Amino acid sequence: MKVREIDIDFTEGKLHWTPEDPEFAQFWNATSTFLPYLEPFLNRTVRAGIDKLPEDATELREHCRIFIAQEGRHYKNHEKLNAFLRANGYPGLGAREAKMKADYQHYWDNKGHKYCMGYAEGFETLGPIIASYFLEAARELDKASVDDPTADLWRWHLAEEYEHRHVANYQFHAIYDSYWYRLWGICYSAPHMLGYMIRTGWYMVKEDWKSGRIKDPWKSRLRFAGMLARMFAYVIPRTIASLHPKYDPMHLPPPKKAMAVLEHAETRWARKPQPQPQVA
Ligand SMILES: [Fe+2]
Ligand SMILES: [Fe+2]
Repeated sequence: MKVREIDIDFTEGKLHWTPEDPEFAQFWNATSTFLPYLEPFLNRTVRAGIDKLPEDATELREHCRIFIAQEGRHYKNHEKLNAFLRANGYPGLGAREAKMKADYQHYWDNKGHKYCMGYAEGFETLGPIIASYFLEAARELDKASVDDPTADLWRWHLAEEYEHRHVANYQFHAIYDSYWYRLWGICYSAPHMLGYMIRTGWYMVKEDWKSGRIKDPWKSRLRFAGMLARMFAYVIPRTIASLHPKYDPMHLPPPKKAMAVLEHAETRWARKPQPQPQVA
């Protein structure tokens, strides 16, 4: 595990970065829009949990710090992508994002740390599953026409979701050690996130019908439904397997290409050193 200083430039990016499957691109664009609210919430939760860990959890404490640094770099890059999305229209995004922001604030203010930790653990259980789906099973990404900063953003982000997959799980068990509450966390976090992703992705696709960016709404409906069906066929059995009492995220096999993706991100998108102000 390590922190990578990634700073992606979206100026040459395309809105439909999977040109033959614009619905796929819009689903992941929609997912990007709530991450600058979700990931700071995860970081607050994990940061507050560090003080609750047993004295001798030195390695886990260090991994929590790397987790926080990785998530921080994720949402900073998503903020840049989101600015590009807003510049392309989609006036309904603001209200949708505001609802998610308010939800996370409400959880933090009123629900208590165990609830927030359960949410974080639920999200982080889905993280490596979605990473494997994206990196090795999403056929929309196999096409030669896919070469875009946003594809790189998601590959890097999801490979790091795999890399830090154990942190929230180990922290949750070290502090609260409740199998049933962990399952409850998945029950309330997964519909909250996936509901947003699907509804907002669908909204963006419908806006594209109106603007003419997507030409044939019927074909578009079929592509959207096919994408979700294939994704859930991959994700559901693996999520069920993760409900086992002996589930240990460290035993999950790495997604193919995960290391190659991380190396590519560092080679292509490493943050450039900022010029130092000249002192006269
Ligand atoms: Fe992340
Ligand atoms: Fe994460």
